Amino acid sequence: MSDAREVFKTEATGAWLTEAAPDRAIPDNPMPAIAAMRLVGQELAVEGIPERNLATFVTTWMEPEARIVIDENLHRNFIDHAEYPQTFAIQQRCIRMLAELFNAPGETTGTSTQGSSEAIMLGALSLKWKWRRCREAAGKSTDSPNLVFGGDVHVVWEKFCRYFDVEPRIVPLQAGKYTIGPEDIEPHVDENTIGVAAVVGTTFTGHTDDVVGMNDFLVELKDKQGLDVRLHIDGASGAFVWPFLYPDSKWDFRLEQVRSINASGHKFGLVYPGIGWLIFREKSDLAEDLVFYENYLGKTDATFTLNFSTGSSMVLAQYYNFVRFGKAGYRAIMQVMQENAASLASDIEGIGKFQIIGEGKETLPLVAFNLAEEHPYDEFDIAFQLAAERSWMLPAYTMPPNAQDVKMMRALVKLTLNRSLVNTLAGDITAAIETLEKKGPVSESERRLVKTSVTH
Ligand SMILES: Cc1ncc(COP(=O)(O)O)c(C=O)c1O
Repeated sequence: MSDAREVFKTEATGAWLTEAAPDRAIPDNPMPAIAAMRLVGQELAVEGIPERNLATFVTTWMEPEARIVIDENLHRNFIDHAEYPQTFAIQQRCIRMLAELFNAPGETTGTSTQGSSEAIMLGALSLKWKWRRCREAAGKSTDSPNLVFGGDVHVVWEKFCRYFDVEPRIVPLQAGKYTIGPEDIEPHVDENTIGVAAVVGTTFTGHTDDVVGMNDFLVELKDKQGLDVRLHIDGASGAFVWPFLYPDSKWDFRLEQVRSINASGHKFGLVYPGIGWLIFREKSDLAEDLVFYENYLGKTDATFTLNFSTGSSMVLAQYYNFVRFGKAGYRAIMQVMQENAASLASDIEGIGKFQIIGEGKETLPLVAFNLAEEHPYDEFDIAFQLAAERSWMLPAYTMPPNAQDVKMMRALVKLTLNRSLVNTLAGDITAAIETLEKKGPVSESERRLVKTSVTH
């Protein structure tokens, strides 16, 4: 049957069996649905396995029931409040639940976003608008706004400054000091400061800025000099961890100057990407000029987002998690991850070559570590070797300025990295080191393959 291939082409794997996948132009003709599905699947065969991606903070597994909720609501545009009022009501419930979790003093407001990046853009815009209103009211110049934060923040803070024309005042890190405190921000804060951003759960080592100290400094500034500088908390990862693991640590609206908080629902909120949250301390902390009231399809909507249309599924999945786990469930999950991270840290320390960064301090469920001494190989070689031998994606990276000479490795310990896998990983790190001791460092071309991005 000379047409034997045709059967495969039309029924299953498609024309691309012997041709490259469509790349530049939409194909002229349709292909069977099953062929399209397999084409996409085959294209993704080279992707890393998410369970072995120890670089990402983002959720890689949800319960089948949550996936049903997600699947059943993929066709629902979140912005159509008139048509889907209950979806909007559920988003509002989530905002109230988070405000309560973050100890907001009373009724407040907020929004869901695509992730913390959008939440930060909106939160920082509100800082800028609030500052400008205040300056205008006092008849003062609004020409040179600045924003103060540490080098330990995520790149999105610099992005905000560039996109929205604000001077970034970045406190550099130092070798051995990877978070910032009041003494660091003090020289930078002045009457043109729209706000200070503090991180709870940094991208680089998982630790927290000294939020209490920064708040105390800003309260004093307000009391003594009448300068009311707002504190925004970047809790992209930490806002879902601190309330459960460190309930007595104050980092949230219990502190007077903390006026807004962002959190990534898709990180330790345990929802698939993309969902983030922005919560204000009080309604008045959201600059009213940023809210758009529009009459759309017969209903007046108040919108406060950068985008318009967006999915409903992840908002509903966040609500699913809140009611499914409850606070006790979230606490239990965080504790499991924390215990497994402690076990991994102890195994890594036991190898005898590494130091754990910031051991004993409040941190995210992760292990940040580096080589304690010089060796013929470095952290980048280890990352390559681990990927080559067992496909673990465990990133090696250098710290931000002025700690750029410090090399670091970081393993996120999510729910999917159970104790058995933690033990396997520790064994694999040992094996990778043994290989490197025998063969020496990896080649330059191999090093270029190492995963170095930790900004997610
Ligand atoms: C501290 C911090 N802020 C902001 C972000 C950006 O968050 P998202 O990926 O939700 O936009 C991240 C991502 O890792 C982060 O760690």
